[in-house]
Amino acid sequence: KSCPAAAPGRLPFSTVTPDDLDFFRKILPGRTITDPDLLQSSNVDWLKTVKGSSEVLLRPRTTEDVSQILRYCNRRNLAVNPQGGNTGLVGGSVPVYDEIIVSTALMNNILSFDSVSGILTCQAGCVLENLTLYLEERDYIMPLDLGAKGSCQIGGNVSTNAGGLRLLRYGSLHGTVLGLEVVLADGRVLDCLSTLRKDNTGYDLKQLFIGSEGTLGVITAVSILCPRKPKSVNVVFLGCETFEQLLQTFQLCRGMLGEILSAFEFLDSECMRLLNTHLKLPNPISGSDPRHDGEKLHNFLEEAMTSSLVNDGTVATEESKAKTLWSMRERVTEALTHDGYTYKYDISLPVDRIYQLVTDMREHLGDKAKSVVGYGHVGDGNLHLNITSPTKDPEVLAAIEPFVYEWTASCQGSISAEHGLGLKKRNYIYYSKPRQAVALMSDIKAMLDPKGILNPYKTLPDNLK
Ligand code: FAD
Ligand code: MLT
Ligand code: ZN
Repeated sequence: KSCPAAAPGRLPFSTVTPDDLDFFRKILPGRTITDPDLLQSSNVDWLKTVKGSSEVLLRPRTTEDVSQILRYCNRRNLAVNPQGGNTGLVGGSVPVYDEIIVSTALMNNILSFDSVSGILTCQAGCVLENLTLYLEERDYIMPLDLGAKGSCQIGGNVSTNAGGLRLLRYGSLHGTVLGLEVVLADGRVLDCLSTLRKDNTGYDLKQLFIGSEGTLGVITAVSILCPRKPKSVNVVFLGCETFEQLLQTFQLCRGMLGEILSAFEFLDSECMRLLNTHLKLPNPISGSDPRHDGEKLHNFLEEAMTSSLVNDGTVATEESKAKTLWSMRERVTEALTHDGYTYKYDISLPVDRIYQLVTDMREHLGDKAKSVVGYGHVGDGNLHLNITSPTKDPEVLAAIEPFVYEWTASCQGSISAEHGLGLKKRNYIYYSKPRQAVALMSDIKAMLDPKGILNPYKTLPDNLK
């Protein structure tokens, strides 16, 4: 088998035998998939840049199913790739070689919801958008929202510690997840599915699994604290001439709107161009006037307009227009896939440095790149820097890396703000994490998964320094 660029050769795991298939078929009748056509989409990531060659896809329904699978695979030294909605962007969600894919797609039951505390407990395979719809009927919302909501699953969200569009207001999953049930590599079930707001009985083990990208255990259930649904939601789409003005608008907005602000996102004019070219989404603000009735919002918009921080804008109060405005931001990822091969960077930086990286990269690449765009979660100091070329081009890649990582490290930033390391970014970990921390990560991995069967070739670097 050929060796994908970002992976070492296949590690000496066993290969699946007819006896193994007999065992899987016995415990998962009708849910042990070996038909190559059915396996195809699970072997390729969302960006279509990483492709594995797994010949087995298992679809457990219960925690006990997962436990039996892992106990068996651990004993047989068979490698396993946990998979949720397969929307991950760093090549972590698909096998690199022939790892067995364990999909949580059928683990999609809501287990309980407490309408007094707002605590939801559900299986890991619940799709984020379905959870949102369930909660909205009960006057609550999920504390996270992202463009992939229609496919991504809560187990995948927790495993990647997904950030998304609401983190500014509701914080990260490290705060909102109250409990997890996890199956360890040897099949033991770790029941930390607490629904308590406070629990200081020793180490908070669930935190280890949040953001561990399927390398330490398979998350089978999640309990999460959900906020009340806001009584009204307004979306304002504003146009600024410069990133400096955008930051001043953000400061003004925070000062005047305070706790009612739930998101502050940005996309540059190059993103707008791609949305228009590839998805036919028109600029929603040309010629509009963003004045508004609600007092707080009105005062903010008046101030932003009169101080000339923003040139143009539009306000949505009805749900359908709000959705249209949000899709301008949420569909940049999709527009990029139509532009060419996408080199994706997800960087944390001090907020005043965010756009400088885009400008510097544009200058650095000159006409080597087709498009260089910046968008992301300004309020969280999280830039999505994306570059395209007509096809995958090693020369373009060599011009981007390590430039982008060195630039980030020089500002003490993070080379992965929210997408994780997966297959693609793991060997760049030292730009953002000290040697001792990576060594401790490796010790934890060895303790929880001594044979290394869980998501091999992901998250941890090839070389320990
Ligand atoms: P997958 O892609 O299937 O898996 C992701 C990782 O988690 C893999 O390493 C996998 O092995 C592991 N995994 C999955 N389920 C489990 C489990 N039950 N137990 C253990 N390990 C598991 N990310 C953000 O942070 N913010 C965004 O705003 C955002 N927007 C996106 C928009 C689009 C259009 C797309 C395509 C992706 C976006 N993402 C974003 C990236 C992605 O991380 C999230 O979509 C999501 O969290 C992944 O969930 P999933 O169920 O698809 O997981
Ligand atoms: C986003 O914020 O749109 C997502 O993280 C996806 C991406 O980076 O393209
Ligand atoms: Zn993002």
